[in-house]
Amino acid sequence: MGMEWPPASAQQRKAAVVGSRSAAVLKLGLLVILAGLALRLLVGPAAYLLPPTAAPEGPARHVAAPGRETTRGGAGDVMPSGEFAVTGSESLADSDNRQGSPETQESCNLFHGEWVPNPVGPAYTNASCHFIESPQNCMANGRPDTNYLYWRWKPYGCEVPPFDGKKFLDGMQGKHWALIGDSILRNHVQSLLCLLSKVEDANEVYHDDTFRSRRWHFHSHNFTVSLIWAPFLIQAKIFEDDDGVSTADPQLYLDVLETNWTSQWEGFDYVVISTGQWFFKSAVYWENGAEVGCHSCQNKNLKEMPPEYSFRKALNTAFQFITSSPHKPVVFYRTWAPSHFENGEWFSGGTCNRTVPFKPGEAGDREMDSKMWRIEREAFESAVANKGPDDADHLKLLDTFELSLLRPDGHSGPYRTYHPYEKGMTAKVQNDCLHWCLPGPIDAWNDIIMQMLAKD
Ligand SMILES: *[C@@H]1O[C@H](CO)[C@@H](O)[C@H](O)[C@H]1NC(C)=O
Ligand SMILES: *[C@@H]1O[C@H](CO)[C@@H](O)[C@H](O)[C@H]1NC(C)=O
Ligand SMILES: *[C@@H]1O[C@H](CO)[C@@H](O)[C@H](O)[C@H]1NC(C)=O
Ligand SMILES: *[C@@H]1O[C@H](CO)[C@@H](O)[C@H](O)[C@H]1NC(C)=O
Repeated sequence: MGMEWPPASAQQRKAAVVGSRSAAVLKLGLLVILAGLALRLLVGPAAYLLPPTAAPEGPARHVAAPGRETTRGGAGDVMPSGEFAVTGSESLADSDNRQGSPETQESCNLFHGEWVPNPVGPAYTNASCHFIESPQNCMANGRPDTNYLYWRWKPYGCEVPPFDGKKFLDGMQGKHWALIGDSILRNHVQSLLCLLSKVEDANEVYHDDTFRSRRWHFHSHNFTVSLIWAPFLIQAKIFEDDDGVSTADPQLYLDVLETNWTSQWEGFDYVVISTGQWFFKSAVYWENGAEVGCHSCQNKNLKEMPPEYSFRKALNTAFQFITSSPHKPVVFYRTWAPSHFENGEWFSGGTCNRTVPFKPGEAGDREMDSKMWRIEREAFESAVANKGPDDADHLKLLDTFELSLLRPDGHSGPYRTYHPYEKGMTAKVQNDCLHWCLPGPIDAWNDIIMQMLAKD
C-alpha cells in the first residue's frame, strides 16, 4: 500500500516545510493542516487497517527489510494518551499499600518496586529473535544508546527471576494461551515469542487478513499462543477508510462483547487481556440497543460523556462474562500501559528521548493515566468480590502500570522507523512513546507472569 504510520505523518512533514516559510497565508495553512491532522488522529488511528506490505508468513521472514516500514504493529494501533500527560492530583503514593493479587499478598507485591542495574543484559537480541517486528526493533533501526537494555525489575522485598523458557514450555504441554486486546498485546506477544525462541521457535499457524489476529504453535511442546484483536474488548463499529479518515464516529456497544474473543473462550487455558487508549477516541456510546451519549462526537444532540465512563462499562461487561462463564481459564488482567510523550503531544512533535528509567516518584503525577488505572483496579476488585473464594483464584491482576510508568527510556521513539536520522538530526520523525522496544522493559511483564505462575 506504500502507506506509513501515522497516515498523517506525510502531512506533518508537509506542514513542517510549509511552516518554515514565512508567508502568513502559509502559516494559516499550517494551522489548518495541523488541526485537521489532530482531528483525524483523534477521530481514528488507522494504521492497523493497512495490510502489511510484505505479508510475511514464516518466522524467518518476520524481520522487515531494512529501509522498509511495515505498517503492522505501528504506533497508530492505539491512540497514544500523551495529551493527557498532565499533572494531576492522584499520585502513585496511594499504590504503596495496595495488594497486587491474592497470590502475592502473603509474600510481597510483585508490582511495587524499582528498576535496578542489570549488567547481564537482555535475554535475547534482535539477532537471536526473528519475531521482533520492525516498529519495535529499535536496535536494528539504529537506536544508538543501549543503557535501556541493562535494567531489571526489582520488587521491594523479593526478586523476580528471569523468564525460564524451558520451564514455561515444559509446564504448558497441550495448553493454549490467548492475548486479547490492542497493539500493546501484540507488543507483549512478540516479547513472549522471543523469550520462548531460546527453547523452541514458534510456527505461525493462523493469521487474519490484516495480521491483527494471529496464532502460533510450538510443535515439540504442543503449546499454542493466540493473539486476538479486540481493541475495545466490547463490540465496536469503526468507520474508517484505508487512510484512517473516519466517515462517522465509531459506535461502541458498551454491554456487548466483541465476539472475536468470546467465541473462542472455551478453547483457552490462559488469557492475558487488557484494553486502553482506544477509549480516548471520540465515539458514540450504546447501551441496551440505544444511544446513551458520546465522547467528543459530531452529533451534538447526544450527551457528552467522558472516556472513563465507557472504559468502566466495557471492563465491567468483560469481567461479567469472564466470571459467569462456566469455562475458567487462568485470566491475567493487565493494567494500563502509560505513554511517555514529552515536549509536545504525539501528534505535535512529542518525544521520549530519555535514556535511563525514572527513579520511584520521578514520573510525577499523571492524572488521566492514574484515573484509568484506578478504574481498572476497581473493576477487577469488584469482579473478584463477586466470586466465591474458590472461584476467584483464576483471576489475576497483572498490574504492570507502575513498573511501566518508570520506563520513559524504553519506547521505540523515533526508532520505530529504520534509521530515522539518516537524513540528518533535524529530520522530522514521528515518535512512538507508547509501544516498547524489544528487547526492552515489556520483557519484565513475562518475567512477572512466570513468577505468578510459579507461585501457584
Ligand atoms: C541487530 O542490531 C544491530 C545493531 O545493534 C545491527 O547491526 C544488526 O544488523 C541487527 N540485526 C538484525 C538481524 O536485524
Ligand atoms: C496437543 O494438545 C491438545 C490440547 O490439549 C490435545 O488435544 C492434543 O491431543 C495434543 N496433541 C498431541 C500430539 O499431544
Ligand atoms: C474481529 O476479527 C475480524 C477478523 O480478524 C476482523 O475483521 C474484525 O475487524 C475484528 N473486530 C474488531 C472489532 O477488530
Ligand atoms: C530530547 O528532545 C528534546 C526536544 O523534545 C530536546 O530538546 C533534547 O535536546 C533531546 N535530548 C537528547 C539527549 O537528544
